[in-house]
Amino acid sequence: FFAGMHSHMLHSASSVNQSNARVLHILYGTQTGNSESLANDAAAKAKSHGLLPIVKSMDKVEIGQLAGMAYLLIITSTYGEGAMPDNAELLWDAANSEAAPNLEGINYSVLALGDTSYDLFCQAGIDWDNRLQELGATRIFDRVNCDVDFEAPAAQWLSEVIPLMAEGAETVAVIDTDAPAAKSTYNRKNPFPAKLQVNRILTALDSSKETRHYEISIAGSDLSYEAGDALCVIPSNCPDLVQDILQALNCNGDEEEPVNGELLTVAEALRSYYEIKLPGKEFLEEIAKRSGDQELNALLNSGDKEKLSAYLWGRDILDLLLQFPGAEFSAAEFLRLLKPLQHRAYSISSSGKKHPDTVHLTVASVRYSGHGRQHKGVCSTYLADLVTADTDVKIFFSPNSNFRVPSDDSLPMIMVGPGTGIAPFRAFLQERQFRQASGKNWLFFGDRNAATDFIYREEIETLQAEGVLTRLDLAFSRDQEQKIYVQDRMIEHGAELYAWLEQGGYFFVCGDAYRMAKDVDQALHEVIRIHGKKSLLEAVEYVNQLKKDKRYVRDVY
Ligand code: 2AM
Repeated sequence: FFAGMHSHMLHSASSVNQSNARVLHILYGTQTGNSESLANDAAAKAKSHGLLPIVKSMDKVEIGQLAGMAYLLIITSTYGEGAMPDNAELLWDAANSEAAPNLEGINYSVLALGDTSYDLFCQAGIDWDNRLQELGATRIFDRVNCDVDFEAPAAQWLSEVIPLMAEGAETVAVIDTDAPAAKSTYNRKNPFPAKLQVNRILTALDSSKETRHYEISIAGSDLSYEAGDALCVIPSNCPDLVQDILQALNCNGDEEEPVNGELLTVAEALRSYYEIKLPGKEFLEEIAKRSGDQELNALLNSGDKEKLSAYLWGRDILDLLLQFPGAEFSAAEFLRLLKPLQHRAYSISSSGKKHPDTVHLTVASVRYSGHGRQHKGVCSTYLADLVTADTDVKIFFSPNSNFRVPSDDSLPMIMVGPGTGIAPFRAFLQERQFRQASGKNWLFFGDRNAATDFIYREEIETLQAEGVLTRLDLAFSRDQEQKIYVQDRMIEHGAELYAWLEQGGYFFVCGDAYRMAKDVDQALHEVIRIHGKKSLLEAVEYVNQLKKDKRYVRDVY
């Protein structure tokens, strides 16, 4: 790659004068770290082309600075239903407002990450792309939208966009003296085969829920993790479900089919390579076509998303195969309609300092009956029912550098984590205990019923007795006629909550994104408005500042 460079530059590679090098700004919007890690890949590649990359989280950029970023890459995921990731929200709001600067002369390209099982696939990236155009910037390479298997299209985008960004620039030779930190050797394509050591039920047997505690050994792996990280688990499907699907397809499973360049039996492919639970768009369209079912066709053609999701509620692929026996598929046709099996990410519930050799998870087992059958969630019941002491559980870590115990041990932490949302806060409390941190800790926890769902109760009470957990507020929603939720407790204790924030406190939320986290966000604004004696607008500004300072961070799903 030294072709075309001046030979004298080759000698003092780490100390070259970089003042004439072209700066490439790489901004990322990330929720779980994928865009951030791609931004670092982009930086490494940019360096190898003689560019000077500057990688920034979007919340570290002020809107006015955009106009100075002549060469710009935007890498962003989409969060939930078409929304910006948390760290991209403020910059996006500013870019999308009338006060946004003119961006003529800016050369950019967008890499969008998303998931085709959502309607607004890659919407955040699309929004950025459109808005940058509107503001006068020049798209020098087309946006690439990536589905959950993002590695290959992202690498392709990078290999094309970086040379374009470097075109005509005066380059400097930089040999990887300050390359990004070495990545974990284990990842999606190369997971660590771990052993499950503990699988214990946390909820009472007569609970309406089933939540389990798992301990997975990473001894001998030289892997390590931080409180706040997630663990990704690559499951395999339930063999009984595979058998039932094979039967519905009228095939015995021994047929061989190519999968990722390998010949596998259809049974193996269904067991370990495809999502066989939730129907994707392609499968739905094909089964509608082949069955000729009027209701399903009308539903798909109507574009009425709510109606469609109501129809699909609790219905899986097997339900549809059984419902429409007239729609026949060969094994090969069926496989082509499925999506590749994905890993599931779980917030780790232990501190890597206290438990360097094990990772703890707190997972609700998904089980329900519907359409005349028992249904099971893929990964939660893989862990609960299928993994034995001998199973190699395929894992890798997903760091979450935003979701961390404050580096200043004296600052207060407020943690809101009902249900399995408690997971990272168990890790945070272990971490603070290990560090003998002096800062106060406040946990808001809740679930349906105290008698059956107060998970980790003894541990929590011990932490209270030891003074690690300073305050505990509980909201058991179904123990009384009127529902009580964690946000009600926040409002009740608003004065004290506001005081903790004023003392430099951090506010963490983990759990359900669609209802709980939204209501908690609203309650937080209320607390600040009332007890900070602020207008609504001032409360919004206060919350935005907390976000910018990384003192309001969420791990919600
Ligand atoms: P519910 O199911 O009784 O309504 C964990 O799932 C806990 O979160 C349960 O107690 C559940 O209560 C509660 N929950 C449901 N909706 C919520 C919301 N909008 N805000 C906060 N908690 C909620």
